[in-house]
Amino acid sequence: MHQYIKEIATHEGQQATLKGWVANIRESKTNIFIVLRDGTGFMQCVIGLDDVGEAQFEAAKRLSLESSLALTGNVIKDERQMGGYELQATALEVYSYSKDYPIKVNENEHGVRHLADRRHLWLRSKRQWAVMRVRNQIIMGIHEFFQNKGFVQMDAPIFTGNACEGTTTLFATDFFGEEAFLSQSGQLYGEAMAMAQGLIYTFGPTFRAEKSDTPRHLAEFWMIEPEMAFYDNEMNMDLIEGFIKHVINRVIEKCPVELEALERDVEKLKGVNQSFPRVPYTDAVKILRGEQDVNGRNAIAVQEADLAAAKQGIEDNLKDIAERETAIKAGMKKGARKFNEAKIAALRKEIAYMEEQVRNIPKWIESAKNFKGGEDFGGSDETVLTRVFDAPVMVYNWPTKIKAFYMKEVEGDPDHVKGVDLLAPEGYGEIVGGSERETDIDILLRKIKEHELPMSEFEWYLDLRRFGSVPHAGFGLGLERIVRWCCGLDHLRETIPFPRRYGRLLP
Ligand code: 4AD
Repeated sequence: MHQYIKEIATHEGQQATLKGWVANIRESKTNIFIVLRDGTGFMQCVIGLDDVGEAQFEAAKRLSLESSLALTGNVIKDERQMGGYELQATALEVYSYSKDYPIKVNENEHGVRHLADRRHLWLRSKRQWAVMRVRNQIIMGIHEFFQNKGFVQMDAPIFTGNACEGTTTLFATDFFGEEAFLSQSGQLYGEAMAMAQGLIYTFGPTFRAEKSDTPRHLAEFWMIEPEMAFYDNEMNMDLIEGFIKHVINRVIEKCPVELEALERDVEKLKGVNQSFPRVPYTDAVKILRGEQDVNGRNAIAVQEADLAAAKQGIEDNLKDIAERETAIKAGMKKGARKFNEAKIAALRKEIAYMEEQVRNIPKWIESAKNFKGGEDFGGSDETVLTRVFDAPVMVYNWPTKIKAFYMKEVEGDPDHVKGVDLLAPEGYGEIVGGSERETDIDILLRKIKEHELPMSEFEWYLDLRRFGSVPHAGFGLGLERIVRWCCGLDHLRETIPFPRRYGRLLP
């Protein structure tokens, strides 16, 4: 029997055996200090020459990053240590030594490509560990929310014969000699199941051949798609709001250690507890262009302020770096030098981010000011728009011509459909897309033709309108998008264990 770091508090003052890997190591003449990670957490362990004897101390001296071992010792309360405890080892057993581990303790010292090429190892770093645990809690929270409400989980097929979200992002494949596509969405099948079960949700992999190398696009991602019989778009929006509040609050409750490791500003996440503003598309356009303020905030003015802050931030960081470098040159102890070097790396990372803002914001402002009504918002437009709100925003009643064929027309206004997108705050952009579904079979027939979709593939779908059609609605949440927002990550590449995106198939 061995113990886990997560439960170490229950062994205070007792002996425990931990099994794990070396996440950090430093040594003095008579002590070796290891940060051990065992999957459940990280903990400082001290191997003292006097406690383990010469032979084991020699074995411990050969340990380096990511060597694996078992450590037995006494669990001592020590407030200064992460987690509040330290293991004072009395014995150790090495499973395996690890030589020249290619990822430094401070992953900021590497470029993105170096890390992405080593994703199979990068997953072990503290940040990635935290992200994957948040992801896990989000998944649990999603199932918990729907199961508690009596929704039935269904698995939609992955090989499909039709395009649900337009023909431009389909991955074609060979299905016994027939052309098939990897599913872009389980929605159409979800609609069929909702007519059998009432309330359902899918939770499955989704594929989009988006040749866009952006922080928001993956080629393979996980989508959760509830579909509800007898729901209109108002009820749909109520459900989205309750759902997102539930999931985010669960992460705040279950993942304090992980959010701290990610340096996530939890107060900002708590913004979900306000009610989510619901803005018709036509108003959203005015807000974006700076023609309509929100609570005294003007979208364009906010961007100008962000730009000025980024410029100032770069200057401040450069000054800070210069001071630290001068101090390092003047000479300091190894520990202090390491600390300052790590800090400099972090400051440089911030600078890179702010430089990107300085490059981007003027373009964003231009694009926002000149936004043509009737079009879809681009990534930057979403950022500009949401910056003036503290809570997630629901934009509804979208132009018909930019939305999918299945969305229901607004009564008396065929140019708009009852679609809704949920935009996350802090620039994270769209995380949910949904709608009330068209029930009029004649309108659907016309739309399928207009979208140049193959009618034969949709015959089964039209049956849902022929046999007991009812009002219904649903939405899709992109799992990685909500993980990104929750964790405060720059890019979706860190939100999924092995990302598949334009230009990235390995590892
Ligand atoms: O807005 P989308 O395309 O909606 C649908 O697929 C509908 N069938 C959903 C429904 O009503 N049942 O996609 C839904 C969500 C987006 O809001 C986004 O979070 C995510 O899926 N998503 C992506 N995530 C990562 N990479 C991509 N390339 C994504 N495309 C969409």
